[in-house]
Amino acid sequence: MKIIGSLTEISRQAAKWQRQGLKIALVPTMGCLHEGHLSLMRQAAAVADRIIVSIFVNPIQFGPNEDFGSYPRQFQTDCELAEKEGVHAIFSPESKDMYGDSFQTKVHVAKLSEGMCGADRPGHFDGVATVVLKLFHLTLPDFAVFGQKDFQQLAIIRRLVIDLNLKVEIIGCPIVREQDGLAMSSRNKYLLGESRSQALCLSKAIQTARKFVAESQQQVPAATVISQTREIIAQAGGKLEYAVVVNETTLENETIVTPQSMLAIAVKIGGTVRLIDNARLFPEPE
Ligand code: PAJ
Repeated sequence: MKIIGSLTEISRQAAKWQRQGLKIALVPTMGCLHEGHLSLMRQAAAVADRIIVSIFVNPIQFGPNEDFGSYPRQFQTDCELAEKEGVHAIFSPESKDMYGDSFQTKVHVAKLSEGMCGADRPGHFDGVATVVLKLFHLTLPDFAVFGQKDFQQLAIIRRLVIDLNLKVEIIGCPIVREQDGLAMSSRNKYLLGESRSQALCLSKAIQTARKFVAESQQQVPAATVISQTREIIAQAGGKLEYAVVVNETTLENETIVTPQSMLAIAVKIGGTVRLIDNARLFPEPE
């Protein structure tokens, strides 16, 4: 496995593979890899000949009061995990090379970035869209693999690809969870003591909502699902940042739960750790 920090070198490597007729899959990450990330690598391996994993804690997607400085970093372990998955190259650039002193261009996917995490984290998705577009240019992927865990991010990337006529196929992968239901996240490392069990309120709220919809004999108003969610989060002592029922593609709020409805929630645990989770509300077709 190659470990590449230089922008010129990754471009050269990607161009070489492309010339050789090899299909490239990119898995963009900020490192601190867990099973969720590894599942994306396995999906990448299933569709492409060469897998590039980027590890870059992207400064421009963090707000001034967010955890950029303390974001967990474990580069050596990450390289070992990626190598075991058969990854061909790790791309881990320096911030100063990605964003020189005079950097001033941002990619803005307007409507999809407005609500949910976009409302709580102003500028976050501009930072994400910008870095992802740069990574696409640098690594020339035929496929790029993202997790449903960040489903607003996934919807934004899909829009970006359509709007800017990018020749990359976006693949979305299911959320990987701990055995007790907690969605895996690099930020779970922050969950100490009782925060870890408190954090289960996210997956519990989602399971409860899915069960309620599955058992309901009639149409379910979104407001009912949202108020049940509020209650579960409040009981656990979490601080709800948002709970919404939205269409999976347009991210527009829905009043009635439909097969395209997603419940998405963001909760602060222990006053500081911000976690997100989501799921389709209708039962999957048999
Ligand atoms: P990061 O949070 O490291 O996540 C990298 C990828 O892993 C994303 O596509 C995310 O949705 C996916 N992922 C995280 N947890 C997952 C889980 N439990 N199950 C399945 N997939 C999971 O998302 C980012 O980094 C950044 O915003 C990035 C796209 C790299 C741009 O900087």
